[in-house]
Amino acid sequence: MAKEINTIGVLTSGGDAPGMNAAIRAVVRQAISKGKKVKGIKRGYAGLLNEEIIDMDAKSVSDTISRGGTILQTARCMEFVTAEGQQKGAEICKKHGIDGIIVIGGDGSFQGAQKLANLGINTVGVPGTIDLDIACTDYTIGFDTAINTAMEAIDKIRDTSTSHERCSIIEVMGRGAGHIALWCGLANGAEDILLPEKYDFDEQKLIDHIIENRKRGKQHHIIINAEGIGHSQSMAKRIEAATGVETRAAILGHMQRGGSPTCKDRVYATTMGAYAVDILCEGKSNRVVAHKNGDFVDFDIDEALAMKKGVPEYMFAISKSLV
Ligand code: ADP
Ligand code: F6P
Repeated sequence: MAKEINTIGVLTSGGDAPGMNAAIRAVVRQAISKGKKVKGIKRGYAGLLNEEIIDMDAKSVSDTISRGGTILQTARCMEFVTAEGQQKGAEICKKHGIDGIIVIGGDGSFQGAQKLANLGINTVGVPGTIDLDIACTDYTIGFDTAINTAMEAIDKIRDTSTSHERCSIIEVMGRGAGHIALWCGLANGAEDILLPEKYDFDEQKLIDHIIENRKRGKQHHIIINAEGIGHSQSMAKRIEAATGVETRAAILGHMQRGGSPTCKDRVYATTMGAYAVDILCEGKSNRVVAHKNGDFVDFDIDEALAMKKGVPEYMFAISKSLV
Protein backbone atom coordinates (compact mmCIF):
# COMPACT_ATOMS: atom_id res chain seq x y z
CA MET A 1 0.00 0.00 0.00
CA ALA A 2 1.24 3.49 -0.83
CA LYS A 3 2.62 5.47 2.09
CA GLU A 4 0.22 8.16 3.31
CA ILE A 5 1.60 11.66 2.92
CA ASN A 6 0.47 14.13 5.58
CA THR A 7 3.42 16.49 5.76
CA ILE A 8 5.49 17.61 2.77
CA GLY A 9 8.95 19.16 3.03
CA VAL A 10 10.27 21.46 0.31
CA LEU A 11 13.83 22.62 -0.33
CA THR A 12 15.89 24.34 -3.01
CA SER A 13 19.40 23.04 -3.66
CA GLY A 14 22.42 23.74 -5.86
CA GLY A 15 22.58 26.93 -7.96
CA ASP A 16 19.48 29.10 -7.64
CA ALA A 17 17.31 29.84 -10.67
CA PRO A 18 14.62 32.44 -11.41
CA GLY A 19 11.26 30.75 -10.90
CA MET A 20 12.26 28.74 -7.84
CA ASN A 21 9.99 30.95 -5.71
CA ALA A 22 7.07 30.31 -8.05
CA ALA A 23 7.73 26.57 -7.65
CA ILE A 24 7.88 26.82 -3.84
CA ARG A 25 4.64 28.83 -3.86
CA ALA A 26 2.90 26.21 -5.99
CA VAL A 27 4.12 23.39 -3.75
CA VAL A 28 2.87 25.14 -0.61
CA ARG A 29 -0.52 26.14 -1.97
CA GLN A 30 -1.25 22.87 -3.83
CA ALA A 31 -0.34 20.90 -0.70
CA ILE A 32 -2.58 23.08 1.48
CA SER A 33 -5.42 22.69 -1.01
CA LYS A 34 -5.13 18.93 -0.48
CA GLY A 35 -5.21 19.29 3.30
CA LYS A 36 -1.47 18.61 3.79
CA LYS A 37 1.00 20.38 6.05
CA VAL A 38 4.12 21.96 4.53
CA LYS A 39 7.54 22.44 6.06
CA GLY A 40 10.13 24.60 4.36
CA ILE A 41 13.70 23.37 4.69
CA LYS A 42 16.15 26.26 4.47
CA ARG A 43 19.55 26.12 2.70
CA GLY A 44 19.08 22.84 0.84
CA TYR A 45 20.50 19.66 2.33
CA ALA A 46 22.76 21.73 4.61
CA GLY A 47 19.65 23.18 6.27
CA LEU A 48 18.10 19.72 6.55
CA LEU A 49 21.15 18.48 8.45
CA ASN A 50 21.06 21.60 10.66
CA GLU A 51 17.30 21.20 11.19
CA GLU A 52 16.53 24.63 9.74
CA ILE A 53 12.90 23.65 9.24
CA ILE A 54 9.99 26.10 9.26
CA ASP A 55 6.22 25.72 9.04
CA MET A 56 4.80 27.22 5.86
CA ASP A 57 1.27 28.42 5.22
CA ALA A 58 -0.40 30.04 2.22
CA LYS A 59 0.61 33.49 3.44
CA SER A 60 4.30 32.58 3.77
CA VAL A 61 4.55 32.53 -0.04
CA SER A 62 2.56 35.71 -0.69
CA ASP A 63 4.21 38.18 -3.06
CA THR A 64 6.94 35.75 -4.09
CA ILE A 65 5.88 34.65 -7.58
CA SER A 66 7.65 37.56 -9.26
CA ARG A 67 10.82 37.45 -7.18
CA GLY A 68 14.16 36.02 -8.32
CA GLY A 69 16.35 33.87 -6.06
CA THR A 70 14.81 31.50 -3.54
CA ILE A 71 13.08 32.50 -0.30
CA LEU A 72 14.27 29.21 1.21
CA GLN A 73 17.90 30.02 0.28
CA THR A 74 20.07 27.34 -1.29
CA ALA A 75 23.39 25.68 -0.61
CA ARG A 76 25.78 22.99 -1.68
CA CYS A 77 26.41 20.47 1.09
CA MET A 78 29.25 17.97 0.97
CA GLU A 79 28.17 16.23 4.17
CA PHE A 80 25.00 15.08 2.42
CA VAL A 81 27.05 13.28 -0.23
CA THR A 82 28.18 10.85 2.50
CA ALA A 83 26.12 7.83 3.62
CA GLU A 84 26.22 9.13 7.22
CA GLY A 85 24.89 12.53 6.13
CA GLN A 86 22.06 10.92 4.18
CA GLN A 87 21.11 8.67 7.11
CA LYS A 88 21.09 11.70 9.42
CA GLY A 89 18.92 13.58 6.90
CA ALA A 90 16.37 10.76 6.75
CA GLU A 91 16.23 10.56 10.56
CA ILE A 92 15.67 14.33 10.80
CA CYS A 93 12.78 14.03 8.33
CA LYS A 94 11.20 11.32 10.49
CA LYS A 95 11.76 13.38 13.66
CA HIS A 96 9.92 16.36 12.10
CA GLY A 97 7.12 14.17 10.72
CA ILE A 98 8.11 14.86 7.10
CA ASP A 99 6.68 12.03 4.97
CA GLY A 100 7.89 13.28 1.60
CA ILE A 101 10.24 15.93 0.23
CA ILE A 102 10.09 17.99 -2.95
CA VAL A 103 13.60 18.90 -4.09
CA ILE A 104 13.88 21.84 -6.48
CA GLY A 105 17.31 21.78 -8.14
CA GLY A 106 19.49 20.08 -10.71
CA ASP A 107 20.96 16.62 -11.31
CA GLY A 108 23.21 16.82 -8.22
CA SER A 109 20.24 17.63 -6.00
CA PHE A 110 18.28 14.75 -7.54
CA GLN A 111 21.05 12.36 -6.51
CA GLY A 112 20.44 13.53 -2.94
CA ALA A 113 16.68 12.94 -3.40
CA GLN A 114 17.40 9.44 -4.73
CA LYS A 115 19.38 8.63 -1.57
CA LEU A 116 16.58 9.89 0.71
CA ALA A 117 14.04 7.81 -1.24
CA ASN A 118 16.18 4.72 -0.66
CA LEU A 119 16.04 5.50 3.07
CA GLY A 120 12.23 5.57 3.14
CA ILE A 121 11.51 9.29 2.64
CA ASN A 122 9.35 9.73 -0.45
CA THR A 123 10.93 12.23 -2.84
CA VAL A 124 10.04 14.13 -6.01
CA GLY A 125 12.49 16.33 -7.92
CA VAL A 126 11.51 19.52 -9.75
CA PRO A 127 14.04 20.62 -12.40
CA GLY A 128 15.34 24.05 -11.41
CA THR A 129 18.50 25.20 -13.15
CA ILE A 130 19.36 27.89 -15.67
CA ASP A 131 21.59 25.35 -17.48
CA LEU A 132 18.82 23.29 -19.19
CA ASP A 133 21.11 20.31 -18.67
CA ILE A 134 18.69 17.77 -17.19
CA ALA A 135 18.33 15.07 -19.81
CA CYS A 136 14.83 13.78 -19.01
CA THR A 137 13.13 17.14 -19.53
CA ASP A 138 12.85 19.56 -22.43
CA TYR A 139 12.63 22.49 -20.00
CA THR A 140 14.23 23.48 -16.69
CA ILE A 141 12.99 26.36 -14.52
CA GLY A 142 15.16 29.45 -14.91
CA PHE A 143 16.46 28.91 -18.43
CA ASP A 144 14.16 31.40 -20.13
CA THR A 145 14.91 34.22 -17.70
CA ALA A 146 18.65 33.53 -17.90
CA ILE A 147 18.80 33.58 -21.69
CA ASN A 148 16.77 36.78 -21.85
CA THR A 149 19.03 38.44 -19.28
CA ALA A 150 22.11 37.32 -21.19
CA MET A 151 20.63 38.32 -24.54
CA GLU A 152 19.99 41.87 -23.34
CA ALA A 153 23.51 42.16 -21.95
CA ILE A 154 24.99 40.84 -25.21
CA ASP A 155 22.95 43.38 -27.24
CA LYS A 156 24.61 46.13 -25.21
CA ILE A 157 28.09 44.73 -25.69
CA ARG A 158 27.39 44.43 -29.40
CA ASP A 159 26.65 48.18 -29.62
CA THR A 160 30.03 49.15 -28.22
CA SER A 161 31.77 46.37 -30.12
CA THR A 162 30.42 47.82 -33.39
CA SER A 163 31.39 51.39 -32.46
CA HIS A 164 34.95 50.32 -31.76
CA GLU A 165 35.04 47.73 -34.58
CA ARG A 166 36.16 45.12 -32.11
CA CYS A 167 35.89 41.42 -31.63
CA SER A 168 33.99 40.56 -28.41
CA ILE A 169 34.14 37.26 -26.63
CA ILE A 170 31.18 36.94 -24.28
CA GLU A 171 31.20 34.06 -21.83
CA VAL A 172 27.86 32.74 -20.62
CA MET A 173 27.05 30.21 -17.89
CA GLY A 174 25.94 26.62 -18.36
CA ARG A 175 28.48 24.52 -16.46
CA GLY A 176 29.30 21.62 -18.83
CA ALA A 177 26.37 22.34 -21.17
CA GLY A 178 26.11 24.75 -24.10
CA HIS A 179 22.35 25.44 -24.18
CA ILE A 180 22.56 29.03 -22.90
CA ALA A 181 25.41 29.74 -25.33
CA LEU A 182 23.54 28.24 -28.28
CA TRP A 183 20.30 30.12 -27.60
CA CYS A 184 22.09 33.43 -27.01
CA GLY A 185 24.28 32.83 -30.04
CA LEU A 186 21.19 32.50 -32.24
CA ALA A 187 19.25 35.29 -30.49
CA ASN A 188 22.14 37.74 -30.77
CA GLY A 189 23.26 36.74 -34.26
CA ALA A 190 26.74 35.83 -33.07
CA GLU A 191 29.46 35.21 -35.63
CA ASP A 192 30.76 32.22 -33.66
CA ILE A 193 29.32 30.05 -30.88
CA LEU A 194 31.66 27.86 -28.86
CA LEU A 195 29.93 24.95 -27.17
CA PRO A 196 31.55 22.24 -25.02
CA GLU A 197 29.54 19.66 -26.98
CA LYS A 198 30.95 20.86 -30.33
CA TYR A 199 34.17 22.84 -30.00
CA ASP A 200 37.28 21.21 -31.45
CA PHE A 201 39.70 23.75 -29.88
CA ASP A 202 41.03 24.67 -33.33
CA GLU A 203 41.60 28.39 -32.64
CA GLN A 204 43.05 28.92 -36.11
CA LYS A 205 39.57 28.37 -37.59
CA LEU A 206 38.24 31.14 -35.36
CA ILE A 207 41.09 33.45 -36.33
CA ASP A 208 40.54 32.79 -40.06
CA HIS A 209 36.82 33.46 -39.61
CA ILE A 210 37.46 36.84 -37.94
CA ILE A 211 39.91 37.91 -40.67
CA GLU A 212 37.54 36.77 -43.44
CA ASN A 213 34.61 38.67 -41.86
CA ARG A 214 36.73 41.80 -41.50
CA LYS A 215 37.54 41.60 -45.22
CA ARG A 216 33.77 41.32 -45.93
CA GLY A 217 33.31 44.60 -44.04
CA LYS A 218 31.81 43.30 -40.79
CA GLN A 219 32.22 45.91 -38.07
CA HIS A 220 32.18 43.56 -35.14
CA HIS A 221 32.72 39.89 -34.44
CA ILE A 222 30.70 38.46 -31.57
CA ILE A 223 31.85 35.15 -30.14
CA ILE A 224 29.59 33.52 -27.55
CA ASN A 225 31.76 31.27 -25.45
CA ALA A 226 30.23 28.71 -23.11
CA GLU A 227 31.51 28.49 -19.54
CA GLY A 228 32.35 24.84 -20.20
CA ILE A 229 35.09 26.04 -22.57
CA GLY A 230 36.02 29.14 -20.57
CA HIS A 231 39.40 30.92 -20.74
CA SER A 232 37.82 33.90 -22.51
CA GLN A 233 40.43 36.43 -21.33
CA SER A 234 43.43 34.48 -22.60
CA MET A 235 41.56 33.59 -25.80
CA ALA A 236 40.97 37.33 -26.39
CA LYS A 237 44.67 38.10 -26.06
CA ARG A 238 45.65 35.37 -28.51
CA ILE A 239 42.97 36.39 -31.02
CA GLU A 240 43.99 40.05 -30.90
CA ALA A 241 47.65 39.12 -31.44
CA ALA A 242 46.84 36.82 -34.37
CA THR A 243 44.23 39.00 -36.15
CA GLY A 244 45.25 42.55 -35.29
CA VAL A 245 41.58 43.15 -34.38
CA GLU A 246 41.12 44.71 -30.95
CA THR A 247 39.47 42.02 -28.83
CA ARG A 248 37.75 42.20 -25.45
CA ALA A 249 36.33 39.49 -23.25
CA ALA A 250 33.29 39.85 -20.97
CA ILE A 251 32.17 37.19 -18.53
CA LEU A 252 28.49 37.73 -17.76
CA GLY A 253 28.57 35.65 -14.55
CA HIS A 254 25.94 35.50 -11.86
CA MET A 255 23.73 38.25 -13.28
CA GLN A 256 22.35 35.39 -15.42
CA ARG A 257 20.94 33.70 -12.32
CA GLY A 258 19.08 36.70 -10.92
CA GLY A 259 16.08 38.82 -11.72
CA SER A 260 12.33 38.48 -11.87
CA PRO A 261 11.33 35.27 -13.69
CA THR A 262 9.76 35.53 -17.14
CA CYS A 263 6.18 34.45 -17.73
CA LYS A 264 7.44 31.12 -19.11
CA ASP A 265 9.50 30.40 -16.00
CA ARG A 266 6.65 31.33 -13.66
CA VAL A 267 4.19 29.10 -15.50
CA TYR A 268 6.50 26.07 -15.79
CA ALA A 269 7.56 26.48 -12.14
CA THR A 270 3.96 26.76 -10.99
CA THR A 271 2.81 23.74 -13.01
CA MET A 272 5.79 21.57 -12.09
CA GLY A 273 5.52 22.49 -8.38
CA ALA A 274 1.82 21.58 -8.26
CA TYR A 275 2.45 18.39 -10.28
CA ALA A 276 5.14 17.34 -7.79
CA VAL A 277 2.65 17.62 -4.92
CA ASP A 278 0.04 15.63 -6.86
CA ILE A 279 2.34 12.67 -7.53
CA LEU A 280 3.81 12.73 -4.03
CA CYS A 281 0.26 12.55 -2.63
CA GLU A 282 -0.48 9.62 -4.97
CA GLY A 283 2.29 7.78 -3.12
CA LYS A 284 4.93 8.05 -5.85
CA SER A 285 8.58 8.36 -4.80
CA ASN A 286 12.02 8.70 -6.42
CA ARG A 287 10.45 10.62 -9.32
CA VAL A 288 11.43 13.73 -11.24
CA VAL A 289 8.90 16.03 -12.90
CA ALA A 290 9.59 16.77 -16.57
CA HIS A 291 8.16 18.54 -19.58
CA LYS A 292 8.52 16.17 -22.52
CA ASN A 293 7.06 16.55 -26.01
CA GLY A 294 4.56 19.13 -24.79
CA ASP A 295 3.28 17.26 -21.72
CA PHE A 296 4.05 17.39 -18.01
CA VAL A 297 5.17 13.90 -17.03
CA ASP A 298 7.41 12.22 -14.45
CA PHE A 299 10.33 9.80 -14.60
CA ASP A 300 12.06 7.49 -12.19
CA ILE A 301 15.07 9.41 -10.84
CA ASP A 302 17.47 6.50 -11.52
CA GLU A 303 16.34 6.38 -15.16
CA ALA A 304 16.37 10.18 -15.47
CA LEU A 305 19.94 10.44 -14.20
CA ALA A 306 21.10 7.81 -16.71
CA MET A 307 19.68 9.76 -19.69
CA LYS A 308 21.93 11.83 -21.98
CA LYS A 309 21.18 15.12 -23.70
CA GLY A 310 23.06 16.93 -26.44
CA VAL A 311 22.49 20.30 -28.11
CA PRO A 312 19.98 20.40 -30.99
CA GLU A 313 21.97 19.70 -34.17
CA TYR A 314 19.82 21.78 -36.51
CA MET A 315 20.05 24.89 -34.32
CA PHE A 316 23.82 24.55 -34.21
CA ALA A 317 24.01 23.99 -37.98
CA ILE A 318 22.07 27.17 -38.81
CA SER A 319 24.20 29.20 -36.42
CA LYS A 320 26.96 28.59 -38.97
CA SER A 321 24.97 29.23 -42.14
CA LEU A 322 23.30 32.47 -41.00
CA VAL A 323 26.40 34.58 -40.28
P1 ADP B 1 22.65 20.90 -8.92
O1 ADP B 1 21.55 20.30 -8.12
O2 ADP B 1 22.33 22.27 -9.41
O3 ADP B 1 23.16 19.96 -10.00
P2 ADP B 1 25.02 20.35 -7.33
O4 ADP B 1 25.58 19.35 -8.26
O5 ADP B 1 25.92 21.35 -6.72
O6 ADP B 1 23.85 21.21 -7.93
O7 ADP B 1 24.32 19.52 -6.15
C1 ADP B 1 23.62 20.18 -5.11
C2 ADP B 1 23.72 19.40 -3.83
O8 ADP B 1 23.11 18.11 -3.99
C3 ADP B 1 25.14 19.06 -3.38
O9 ADP B 1 25.77 20.13 -2.71
C4 ADP B 1 24.87 17.91 -2.43
O10 ADP B 1 24.40 18.37 -1.18
C5 ADP B 1 23.74 17.17 -3.15
N1 ADP B 1 24.32 16.06 -3.92
C6 ADP B 1 25.01 16.13 -5.07
N2 ADP B 1 25.44 14.92 -5.46
C7 ADP B 1 25.01 14.05 -4.51
C8 ADP B 1 25.14 12.64 -4.31
N3 ADP B 1 25.80 11.86 -5.17
N4 ADP B 1 24.56 12.10 -3.22
C9 ADP B 1 23.89 12.87 -2.35
N5 ADP B 1 23.74 14.20 -2.48
C10 ADP B 1 24.29 14.80 -3.54
O1 F6P C 1 24.12 25.40 -12.33
C1 F6P C 1 23.95 26.79 -12.40
C2 F6P C 1 25.28 27.49 -12.48
O2 F6P C 1 25.04 28.89 -12.56
C3 F6P C 1 26.18 27.04 -13.63
O3 F6P C 1 25.81 27.62 -14.86
C4 F6P C 1 27.52 27.47 -13.13
O4 F6P C 1 28.53 26.62 -13.64
C5 F6P C 1 27.43 27.29 -11.64
O5 F6P C 1 26.05 27.24 -11.31
C6 F6P C 1 28.09 28.40 -10.86
O6 F6P C 1 28.04 28.09 -9.52
P1 F6P C 1 28.46 29.12 -8.36
O7 F6P C 1 27.25 29.92 -8.03
O8 F6P C 1 28.87 28.24 -7.24
O9 F6P C 1 29.56 29.99 -8.88
